[in-house]
Amino acid sequence: MAGTRLPSSRALAADLGVSRGLVTETYEQLTAEGYLRSGRGSGTWVSGAVRTARATTPSGPNAPEASDPYGSGVTVDFRPGTPDLSLFPRAAWAAAQRAVLTALPHQALGYPDPRGLPELRSALASMLIRRRGVVADPDRLVVCSGVAQAATLLGFALRSRGHGAVGVEDPGSPEHARLFAATDLTAVGLPLDEEGLRPGPLTTAGLRAVVVTPSHQFPSGLAWSAERRGMLLDWARTVDGYVLEDDYDGDFRYDRAPVGALQGLDPERVVYAGSVSKSLAPGLRLGWMVLPEALVDEVVERKRTMDLGHPALDQAALAHMVTSGGYDRQLRRCQRMYRERRDALLAALEKYFPGTEVTGIAAGLHVIACLPVRFGPSERFLAEAASVGVTLRPLEEYGTARPSDGAVRLVIGYAHLAPTTISAGIRRVAEALGGS
Ligand SMILES: Cc1ncc(COP(=O)(O)O)c(C=O)c1O
Repeated sequence: MAGTRLPSSRALAADLGVSRGLVTETYEQLTAEGYLRSGRGSGTWVSGAVRTARATTPSGPNAPEASDPYGSGVTVDFRPGTPDLSLFPRAAWAAAQRAVLTALPHQALGYPDPRGLPELRSALASMLIRRRGVVADPDRLVVCSGVAQAATLLGFALRSRGHGAVGVEDPGSPEHARLFAATDLTAVGLPLDEEGLRPGPLTTAGLRAVVVTPSHQFPSGLAWSAERRGMLLDWARTVDGYVLEDDYDGDFRYDRAPVGALQGLDPERVVYAGSVSKSLAPGLRLGWMVLPEALVDEVVERKRTMDLGHPALDQAALAHMVTSGGYDRQLRRCQRMYRERRDALLAALEKYFPGTEVTGIAAGLHVIACLPVRFGPSERFLAEAASVGVTLRPLEEYGTARPSDGAVRLVIGYAHLAPTTISAGIRRVAEALGGS
């Protein structure tokens, strides 16, 4: 901090175990650069010219919870959306990086193809055909920074085609509206029922583009019915529009056969988007989009002007993991762990909150829990949970519907928590409610 007095060169040299000459030389250099000031025989200070960067507090949707109100040092955060980051396959990723660094020719370190490395596009296309039923031609696949950049790239393409708004699911991911807002598109909430988007509001909203999560709707967890999937595609053809399919957690299915991607039913109307954010780690910022023919050139050009292509080494490492079978192994490992955690959550809810109706359990990394009315009202429930260090998210946060029955409806993320932590967290809330 400005004005802080530094130790004498003799004392600092002794503390650090270095020569006094080295310290004197360093002080002189820093004084010459303006960081320090010194008076003859009167010591050395940090100069008033130095401005310390103000400490910033992380904010936004992924910021850590600030407090530990329970005072136990252990908070349990059931927020949805995060995989278990400790399951990241460090050894396999390091091996893939070593392998590609050894094998990649120098030319591969130039600006990459804005669509992505050819070997990654081929590997991803084969995987998406096999795992998700996507009609995936590598020439129509663009590697990007997650579903988030896929939405942004599509948003710009829609804007240039005269779109002013995009339909988003209600309830849905708040991220969708934010991403499209960044491309100057207004998000229009479209209500859902237990089968998917309700047809009436979709057809009367005057839209020509929507973003949906039909395989595992976020946050409700429902899989859209075949009829509603068909209805949405009919609508897109009628209005000459586009559907962005966000397959955000399409890799994790527990007790039912995977629901194939909507894109497989009409690849000229559906933009399919996915990423490694749930299967490997969101910090990699690696994802993909498979495009209708009519959008390919514009989206690729947008991607080029946005960042001149995706980092080549990460792409090559992912291609290596996919083609070597390491990616499938990771998915199987996560699937086993997450199923166990889901079962721990279901058991804990049944034990501590009997009568709770849990939905969206067949897939994904979270469930919806509707507690019997006697555990409400919601505000009190959430306050009691927070008072014992347990973070829970009410379903109301994800949409505009505000049911008046007083029941507590929660979106509970479980994948990032150990089974014992899940049980302990739910028990802690039950005890807090029982004891209040
Ligand atoms: C439903 C949904 N889709 C996509 C994303 C973003 O995913 P990605 O990390 O692939 O950009 C989020 C993240 O908040 C999300 O909630």
